[in-house]
Amino acid sequence: MHTALRPSTRARRAATLLALIAGCCACGASLAAPPPPWWQQAVIYEIYPRSFQDSNGDGVGDLNGIGQRLPYLESLGVDAIWIAPFYPSPQVDFGYDISDYRGVDPQYGTLADFDRLVAAARARHIRVILDMVLNHTSDKHPWFIAAAASRSDPQHDWYCWNAGRVAANGQHVPPNNWVSLFGGSAWQWVPAVGQFYYHKFYRQQPDLNWRNPAVEAAMFAAMRFWLDRGVVGFRLDAITTLYEDQRLRDEPVLGGTNAQGDPILDNIYTDNLPEVHDVIRRMRAMTDSYPGERVLIGETYLRKTADIAPWYGGARHDELQLPMDTLFGLGNKLDAVAFRRRMVEADTELAGGQPLFVFDNHDNVRSIDRYGDGVHDTAIARIVAALLLTQRAAVLLYQGEEIGQRTATPQRVQDVRDPIGISGWPREKGRDGERTPMQWDTSNAQAGFSSNPHTWLPVPASYRTVNVATELAEPGSLLNWHRRLIALRRSNAALRDGRLVMLDPENPRVLSYARVAADGSAVVVMLNMSDTTQRVALGLSGAGLAATRLVPLLVSPDDRSERPVDEPLTLPPFAAWITALR
Ligand code: GLC
Repeated sequence: MHTALRPSTRARRAATLLALIAGCCACGASLAAPPPPWWQQAVIYEIYPRSFQDSNGDGVGDLNGIGQRLPYLESLGVDAIWIAPFYPSPQVDFGYDISDYRGVDPQYGTLADFDRLVAAARARHIRVILDMVLNHTSDKHPWFIAAAASRSDPQHDWYCWNAGRVAANGQHVPPNNWVSLFGGSAWQWVPAVGQFYYHKFYRQQPDLNWRNPAVEAAMFAAMRFWLDRGVVGFRLDAITTLYEDQRLRDEPVLGGTNAQGDPILDNIYTDNLPEVHDVIRRMRAMTDSYPGERVLIGETYLRKTADIAPWYGGARHDELQLPMDTLFGLGNKLDAVAFRRRMVEADTELAGGQPLFVFDNHDNVRSIDRYGDGVHDTAIARIVAALLLTQRAAVLLYQGEEIGQRTATPQRVQDVRDPIGISGWPREKGRDGERTPMQWDTSNAQAGFSSNPHTWLPVPASYRTVNVATELAEPGSLLNWHRRLIALRRSNAALRDGRLVMLDPENPRVLSYARVAADGSAVVVMLNMSDTTQRVALGLSGAGLAATRLVPLLVSPDDRSERPVDEPLTLPPFAAWITALR
């Protein structure tokens, strides 16, 4: 089964045909450029399926629940949904420990439910992207069960083993100082084979050995299974950590300890090793062999923007279409200077690759809590949304971000579900806070998420005011701000793919920039990231932009007045202005 061609794909093909025809005749007509692929300016909405919508009253979200909410997603205007793992799993890491790559965990539904969801989403022009966990499997995956039973099993070498050393007291000691991101040594002893296996994450998530070609063959086959069912691509989990140093050298010690009490190491031997790019190039060739503009998105936490460029395949662009730029939006200081720097870096250091920006996901405290000052949180959330959705970039939006859902971190260790929050308490309280159920309405105490009062994580009391139904009814709500931003970004040529021109670049508090379309039309965005009124000197003519007026498109706090460009501009505290240049 292949994805039917979507409108944008059809339009692209038609434009290519037109361009060919134009190129054939000698009339001198200019060639019509094909429209860019759908993912370039896509708004991709992340769904954490446990917490999105429960359809069968067991307190856990499921695939049919996602199906019920498709009209909402369509009206929000998203191009695609990325669904976090729903495959069969012991759920130690809530699905990121997969025991079968070709199925659906019964608590989320069935393969038939999945097929129905893909078809129903397609009917609403919403593409489906899956999360693919390639770095590790569950320790309950049949591959690992076989691998851990005997050294002579052919699948033993599918994982990373080492006998380590024997200490004077007879204890087995791991081969090096590598630590798990989730706490403790990254090595786990298995008496049956007399070896340790390596795990970057929980010990129930053994790392695969990507130097064994059978691993690649098995994983690519699993990916094809889903591509054949109509998914448009994958978000590749923990993709930078596929390979480890073959010599197992100790990582350099940076000093200090992390929230888990482990020494802080420089992960030069377990992260971002060059070999991974060969796998990604082959993977890209595989996904490109499918029709319908399939896409590969990377969970690429990297140190600096320039490190992301190789993940596109550099100038060849033969690796990921969208490695995720976490440097842009995972900080916690609303700082115009820092955002300006990141925007310029993304514009100039990605070898022409399309940036993918993100503020929120299921692993991080929500942006409203990271950037909020406790007084102007909604205004700040509007600034974050405006910043995110007016970039020349694809965008990841996480469920609940659009309504300003808060992080609801457990107050007591006995309430924590995420294992790192139990082992790391109280320094590390885990990721439950950003995974609480989606707040839909006030129809019941579960915010419409479930009919069952015992939801897998509690529904925070904030649902009474922060929920989809209430915000849909308020024209000035954060949800409607997001809806209008997404609609504007879609309809406005300058916001869609216009080039970036920084304005007032020395201003420490207001981030201002123009997006300028090929036809010269332009949008100017001004974001006052401070709690005081600020002056802005746009200097438009110096930036090569000719105009006499700024015409409001979306302005917060609401202000419909046009401004002459040659008069000084003052922006109220935490104002977000998106204006057209006329
Ligand atoms: C990614 C996921 C995270 C998971 C980890 C291990 O970072 O986003 O939720 O725990 O990989 O698979």
